[in-house]
Amino acid sequence: MYSDLLPALVCPACHQPLTLAHDVRDAQGEILAGQLACARCSVYYPIYEGIADFLDTPRPLTPAQVTNEWPFTAWVYERGWRPFALTLLSREPFPYRRELPLMADLMQTQRGGLYLDVACSNGLYARALARTLGAAPGHVVGIDHSLPMLLQARRFAREAGLRISYVRAEAQGLPIAAERVAGVAIGGSLNEIGDLDACLEEARRVLQPAGRFVTMTLARAATRPGQLFQSLMATGGITFWSASVLVAQFAAHGFHTVEQRQYGLVMFHLALPANNALAV
Ligand SMILES: C[S@@+](CC[C@H](N)C(=O)[O-])C[C@H]1O[C@@H](n2cnc3c(N)ncnc32)[C@H](O)[C@@H]1O
Ligand SMILES: [Zn+2]
Repeated sequence: MYSDLLPALVCPACHQPLTLAHDVRDAQGEILAGQLACARCSVYYPIYEGIADFLDTPRPLTPAQVTNEWPFTAWVYERGWRPFALTLLSREPFPYRRELPLMADLMQTQRGGLYLDVACSNGLYARALARTLGAAPGHVVGIDHSLPMLLQARRFAREAGLRISYVRAEAQGLPIAAERVAGVAIGGSLNEIGDLDACLEEARRVLQPAGRFVTMTLARAATRPGQLFQSLMATGGITFWSASVLVAQFAAHGFHTVEQRQYGLVMFHLALPANNALAV
């Protein structure tokens, strides 16, 4: 992680600011090791291999989430599956050169500020956000609960020369202060995130009033065989919603949906905090 993130970091348990100690940095200023202390909880969150780790307790994991803890999944994810995923799921050509500008267009990173790629896996959206942020003042953070995914994400970011902080945390317990974030992106992860209500609640808490919430989610199939297959996936912890159900879920947590674009099963969704003037 980088010191750019420090002012926005809080203890995920009590939301108090954290104090950095024993930090070791590299020539680029990345904090490779150290401790983040919460004085109120008397807890230390370690930083190692450049990753701030807020998860030390065992978490209830679904079968889908367990597979993302395997180093093999982390290695193969962006090398073997991700480049083809949207083309297969939308049934139309959907390479990164189409997907990533679409996501960035909805996010509007030229506003600057702090951007989160939540449940980031190998950090595809985090890198795209960092690239489009360019020289605008701001910072990008990739968050996931799988350490192998984060280690791979950090490797990719460093190879690309991008300054991105990586944090191990739950989407339902972000170590980020309230109303600090200009944009939250969740690419393909809402389907397996677990407690959707708590995840949307956290996104709402950390977003600034003018913040933007961009998700790419797999929609509920329209055909009976597709629905049967998705019911099977549900037993492994993967849930699918129709566009209207997702809009209602967002609304229940104080978001107003301003745009939805659906291509086959692939659904891009832009939601704004309901008190944002643009959201009316
Ligand atoms: C489908 S992959 C994400 C894809 C990635 N965002 C992309 O666009 O390439 C799902 C990821 O979500 C993470 N994940 C699932 N549930 C999570 C949770 N509750 N909190 C944090 N990460 C979670 C998994 O570890 C996995 O890396
Ligand atoms: Zn605390």
